[in-house]
Amino acid sequence: MKNILITGGAGFIGSNFVRYMLKNEPAIQVINLDALTYAGSPTNLEALPGEKRHTFIQGDICDRALVDDLLRQREIDTIVHFAAESHVDRSILGPEQFIQTNIVGTFTLLEAAKFYWLHERKWNDGQARFHHISTDEVYGSLAPDEPPFAETTPYQPNSPYAASKASSDHLVRAYHHTYGLPTTLTNCSNNYGPYQFPEKLVPLIILNALEGKPLPVYGDGQQIRDWLYVEDHCEAIALVLRQGRIGEEYNIGGDNQPTNLEIIHTLCSILDARLPASPHAPHTQLIEYVTDRPGHDRRYAINMAKIQTELGWQPRQALASGLEKTVDWYLNNADWVAKIRSQQQYNQWMQQNYVDRS
Ligand code: NAD
Ligand code: TYD
Repeated sequence: MKNILITGGAGFIGSNFVRYMLKNEPAIQVINLDALTYAGSPTNLEALPGEKRHTFIQGDICDRALVDDLLRQREIDTIVHFAAESHVDRSILGPEQFIQTNIVGTFTLLEAAKFYWLHERKWNDGQARFHHISTDEVYGSLAPDEPPFAETTPYQPNSPYAASKASSDHLVRAYHHTYGLPTTLTNCSNNYGPYQFPEKLVPLIILNALEGKPLPVYGDGQQIRDWLYVEDHCEAIALVLRQGRIGEEYNIGGDNQPTNLEIIHTLCSILDARLPASPHAPHTQLIEYVTDRPGHDRRYAINMAKIQTELGWQPRQALASGLEKTVDWYLNNADWVAKIRSQQQYNQWMQQNYVDRS
């Protein structure tokens, strides 16, 4: 691993991963390809460690000529593919972009990697690696008594987002099986931590609470997710890149199963403790039940036995302290927050998904 192409490296997990790799892998060059959609921002990449080993390229993963040029000119031997449309609610209101980026974009990268690595360079498995970042949402929804998702659980995606990610996973699998492309794939649970765009639950609740706006709970708030601190996710991906077996999938989770309401209550009490003089404290008074998300998955849970036993990975961050660190990051990064809040696109989304919600 010398020259690594990270797609979507200006987004939430991608920018954390760029930071992680520059810090922990002093010999690598990072090429960061990101289209800078509403979800990506150069401000996520400020003050990087080892900045000279990072090159940012603004561009679309669906642009085959651009991807071909990058692979060849930078002699890319490793691709870590994060770029995606990533928000379930947006996929419900406008699925088309999810098909384009998540399916066509992944297909474009796979084709380009196949051509450059296998046909042009004739590299073998040890010389190149395509790592695809996916989600636990491809497995669908669990009943209360069902066992957690294992790598063998059948895919049953329920949202357009999950279906588009499932499609991309199948393409990755097929490119390994049919062409021998050296791939690995990870299916991860809900991430939280610094730089997460405030359309997702954790940062949305923090930012709304700071402004004294309603904290929207979809349905009864009893849905269950497994929450993983983003740095733990980055560590797991790096380990799979180094030691994961070619052609394999690994599930990654945080080993917890709170309800959404529990997450919201925890965030409120952290904010109460940090800001005792806030006119909005106790922040739980801002909680508002709103119309449920259509097709809302009830429960996700992850069986991590494979990555634990094969690679010795497990999450380091406990949920309570991880949420505290996350709240503190948003409190200490008021400029970052202000920049997003001032975006017309962000305000349009808040209007469309919350104010106009029937
Ligand atoms: P994000 O929405 O914060 O960032 C996505 C990034 O991709 C943005 O920087 C955006 O500009 C970029 N992008 C979008 N379309 C592009 C295109 N056509 N070409 C180039 N760049 C493009 O997403 P995230 O939360 O960081 O998620 C990253 C990956 O991890 C996604 O593949 C997602 O499915 C997966 N994932 C996310 C979570 C989570 O909880 N956030 C959990 C499991 C898996
Ligand atoms: P989200 O962060 O969008 O992640 P995902 O849908 O990929 O799991 O949502 C996490 C959970 O929180 C999910 O069950 C939906 C719920 N939720 C709310 O109750 N209110 C909100 O405003 C948002 C954004 C999510």
